[in-house]
Amino acid sequence: MSPTIVLEVETRFEEEERLDEFQKGVKHLCERGITKVPRKYILPALERPILTKKDDATNFKLPVIDFDQLQGPNRVHALKSLSKACEEYGFFQLINHGIACQSIVDMIEAGRKFFELSFEERSKYMSKDLRAPVRYGTSFNQNKDRVFCWRDFLKLDCHPLSDVLPYWPSSPTELRQAAVNYSEKTRFLYLMIVEAILESLGLVETTKDSDENDSDDHIKEFRDGSQLLVVNCYPSCPEPDLTLGIPPHSDYGFLTLLLQDEVKGLQIQHETRWVTVEPVPNSFVINVGDHLEIFSNGRYKSVLHRVLVNSLNSRISIASLHSLPFESMIRPSPKLINDANPRRYKDTDFASFIEYIASHEHRSKNFLESRRLT
Ligand code: OGA
Ligand code: NI
Repeated sequence: MSPTIVLEVETRFEEEERLDEFQKGVKHLCERGITKVPRKYILPALERPILTKKDDATNFKLPVIDFDQLQGPNRVHALKSLSKACEEYGFFQLINHGIACQSIVDMIEAGRKFFELSFEERSKYMSKDLRAPVRYGTSFNQNKDRVFCWRDFLKLDCHPLSDVLPYWPSSPTELRQAAVNYSEKTRFLYLMIVEAILESLGLVETTKDSDENDSDDHIKEFRDGSQLLVVNCYPSCPEPDLTLGIPPHSDYGFLTLLLQDEVKGLQIQHETRWVTVEPVPNSFVINVGDHLEIFSNGRYKSVLHRVLVNSLNSRISIASLHSLPFESMIRPSPKLINDANPRRYKDTDFASFIEYIASHEHRSKNFLESRRLT
C-alpha cells in the first residue's frame, strides 16, 4: 500500500473509532484537546452559517415587552405590543419580569458547574429515553443526527416537582435548590404571560377590573401544564463557521422562556434573514412555540431560530419550555375558527410529537408542517 493510502485508512479508522466518542458530547471532546472541528460536526456548505465581523442586521431589535406595564394600568397598550410581537416576530424580550437577579445567577452558575463535573459524573444522567425525567446529552437528537451540532444539554423535567426531584442530579450540590427555585419562578411568570396571550387573542375579557373567574376557567388547563428546563452548554469552537450550536428549529411547546448569558449566539429568522438577538442583561427572550401557533390557528408564529458558536467563549443558556399537560390535545381554539378563518391545523398531542422526533431527523419546522391542513 502506498503511504498516502495507509494514511487515509488510518485517518478514517481514527474517525470511526471516535464516532462513539462523539456520543459523549462536545465538552468531553474539547477536554481531550482539539484544534479542528471533526468531520462529524461539519455541515454541508449550504447549511453553514455566514459569520461576518459586522452583523448585517446591526439595527435589528427584538420587540420589548415590559412586564410591569402589562400588569399595570397600561395593560391594554402592552397587550397590543405583545400581539404584534407574536404575529410579526414570534419572539420578544421581556423586561421588568420581577424574578430576583439572585435566582437567575444561581441557576446559571449551577448549570455551569454541572458541565464542569467530570465526564463520569455527568454521564450518569445520559439516557436514550426521550421521556426520562433527567437527560444529559449532546447535539439535537444524538440517535438520529447525521451531522452533530456543537451543544451538550441537561434536560430536567419539572412537573410535578415532587415526582421528578429525586431523579435530578445530586451534584453539584446547589443544582437542585437552584433549579427548584428557578423553575417555580419561571412557571409563575409563564402563567402570567399566558393570561396576557389569551387576552390578546380575545379569548378572555380584560381581567384587571372585571370578573377574575372568567380568566381562571381558561387558565386552569395551563396551570397543570408540562415544564422542561434545558441547560444548554456550547463550548468554544475552533472553527465556528463549519458548524452550529443548534441547527434551525422551532420549539414544540406553547412558549419558551430563554435566559442567555452575556455571550451572543441566538439568531432568529426574520423576513428571510438570520438576525442576532443581542443579550440584554436581566431580561428573558420569550418565543412562540408550535403549540401556540396551532392554538392561535396560525395567528402567532413559531419562528425558526438557531445558535451560532464562537472561537473565544463558551456559552450557557437556560431554556424553560412550557406547554399543556402531556396528555392534553393541542388544537386551534374553537373561538378563533370561523368561516373567514377556517381551521388550519390537525389536533396534536405529545405522544405523536415524541413519536415524530424519535423517528425523524429533526429538520426545521417539519413537525408543525406535518400538522398543517392543506
Ligand atoms: C433551544 C434554543 C437557544 C439558545 O434550547 O431550543 O433555541 O440560545 N436555545 O440557547
Ligand atoms: Ni429553540
